[in-house]
Amino acid sequence: MPNTFSRPQRLVTLFSTLFILLCCASAAYGLDNGLARTPPMGWNSWNKFACEGLNEKVVRETADTIVANGMKDAGYQYVNLDDCWQTSRDADGNIVVDAAKFPTGIKALADYIHSKGLKMGIYSDAGMLTCAKRPGSIGHEYQDALQYAKWGIDYLKEDWCSTLPNQNAESSYTLMRDALADATKKTGHPILFSLCEWGSHQPWLWAGPVGNTWRSTGDIQDCWDCKKDWGGNGVTAIIDLLDPIYSYAGPGHWNDPDMLEVGNGGMSTEEDRSHFSLWALLAAPLLSGNDIAHMSADTRSILLNKEVIAIDQDPMGIQGHRVKKDGDLEVWSKQLADGGRAVILLNRSKASAKVSANWADIGFPDTLQASVRDLWAAKDLGKLSGSYSATVPSHGVVMLRVKP
Ligand code: GLA
Repeated sequence: MPNTFSRPQRLVTLFSTLFILLCCASAAYGLDNGLARTPPMGWNSWNKFACEGLNEKVVRETADTIVANGMKDAGYQYVNLDDCWQTSRDADGNIVVDAAKFPTGIKALADYIHSKGLKMGIYSDAGMLTCAKRPGSIGHEYQDALQYAKWGIDYLKEDWCSTLPNQNAESSYTLMRDALADATKKTGHPILFSLCEWGSHQPWLWAGPVGNTWRSTGDIQDCWDCKKDWGGNGVTAIIDLLDPIYSYAGPGHWNDPDMLEVGNGGMSTEEDRSHFSLWALLAAPLLSGNDIAHMSADTRSILLNKEVIAIDQDPMGIQGHRVKKDGDLEVWSKQLADGGRAVILLNRSKASAKVSANWADIGFPDTLQASVRDLWAAKDLGKLSGSYSATVPSHGVVMLRVKP
């Protein structure tokens, strides 16, 4: 067929096609609620306070501390109630707040948290009951979503306990996604959606357009390398599970290796530091899970390392992954928006050891001169080419920013 377009017309057509492809390719994947363009940061009650310890006083004190101790300035934003804020449903099916734990109610608490310049999260479950046997949301998705939006809730974590036999995860979470979108339309209040089905249905394959984050693994355990039969994992087991699925994460839709255990006492300071570094390299949600109103100086210095946080929050939104493994000695790398790399030299062994990252391991030519900065020592190590080696303590990391 003869080409009937002039050259300028062809150029216009070409550029329009390119524009449509680029625009729609980026819009097609990921939930389009505009939230979590970088991994969400904040605090969640569960890892430390569980059911028994959760109450309004703890939550208010936590919000006060996030503002006072610099965490808010460092990017921590969401103050999230986990399980046990709810008791039952009233005759109209409305969710009833546990008044013994939250005497002023959820709306007043949300107002308080907002008055501090922070945001508030809440928890529900896609089944009949939450994991702590409080009412779940099945059959009440639209009613609950609207209630949350009216209270001013900014973040919903939805768990997967007491689901029906053969309940379909993708359609259940899609239903709640749509209920949240409808509530946002009615109230103007957007709500970040965090899926929590523990990776049981490979959510990385389908949850991009459904949720802003999805738990990719079972419940985190406060230990370095333990592994429970029921699917609970320590830090090293979790990173091994997150490594192969790195390409599914991106702005607005993140793999979630679970809330932080930093400061909860099960790991040494060295291990806590490694845990936090690895979560940052994995572009994980950084939800502290400890008693931040009463934490040690060591814990505080880990949670507040802004250079490590900047790796997690890098605007390009690439999840890092393992690039080299030599027994218990590993190198992990994350591509950054400035063309550099975050690099972790990880020593999983029982004794200190030398770990080396070659430029070729992190996608740089050998001859490239790159500036290297140690993010925990807060020290520039100069312009280097070829490789960098360091002695890394047992269960420790050296975390670097390498910039051409
Ligand atoms: C599940 C979730 C946890 C926590 C508890 C609450 O185990 O995975 O993160 O929310 O339920 O009961």
